[in-house]
Amino acid sequence: MRPVEDLRFRLAGVSDARAVAALHADSWRRHYRGAYSDAFLDGDVHADRLDVWTERLAKPDRPGQTIVAQDGERLVGFAHTIFEEDPRWGALLDNLHVAHGEKRRGIGSRLMALTARAVLERDTGLYLWVLEQNVDAQAFYASRGGRRVERVVIPPSSMLDGSPAALRYAWGDPRLLDVGCAQDVEP
Ligand SMILES: CC(C)(COP(=O)(O)OP(=O)(O)OC[C@H]1O[C@@H](n2cnc3c(N)ncnc32)[C@H](O)[C@@H]1OP(=O)(O)O)[C@@H](O)C(=O)NCCC(=O)NCCS
Repeated sequence: MRPVEDLRFRLAGVSDARAVAALHADSWRRHYRGAYSDAFLDGDVHADRLDVWTERLAKPDRPGQTIVAQDGERLVGFAHTIFEEDPRWGALLDNLHVAHGEKRRGIGSRLMALTARAVLERDTGLYLWVLEQNVDAQAFYASRGGRRVERVVIPPSSMLDGSPAALRYAWGDPRLLDVGCAQDVEP
């Protein structure tokens, strides 16, 4: 396995929609069961993600960026951020997923460091929502210096199984995340 320093990190384009959607759907199936409905996860999740990513990457509707991590030809992770989403908390890290079998290589940390760099240029904080059941991701965010600041119950929808809870994690100073990362995002 190559060290994370040898991976490429670049901004996603419309030709990445298929690979990003496949990784996203696979990750939701593995990690969101119990919060998202079985009917959605076993049915429409892939088509849903493909529609979302095709549209997002073709014509972004809000100022933001999607960074993908690439190991050779393979897409192994991505981070999607919406800048200046919240007047108090700053930029929203809307999606962060690392491919199954690629976790604990430092890819998630690198994606967050590169995200933080773009957020810092806009001089805001960074925040995200994580499902309460997703304790592994919470351990990751805590290890990256994130602070748990809020808990909400998500209103029911056709995608969900009942009303799961979500936690807001925040970084008032995203410089905490950009430590020891010598890489840049390629355009
Ligand atoms: C959460 C996620 C993005 C983390 O990415 P990653 O590349 O595996 O994380 P890193 O390798 O950069 O981990 C850095 C540190 O975070 C902590 N950490 C990461 N995963 C952890 C876990 N499952 N349990 C406890 N600590 C963890 C560790 O301190 C780790 O350092 P170490 O490996 O030297 O011990 C990844 O596991 C993932 O894609 N999960 C599934 C999707 C998901 O839950 N996304 C978040 C939605 S809000």
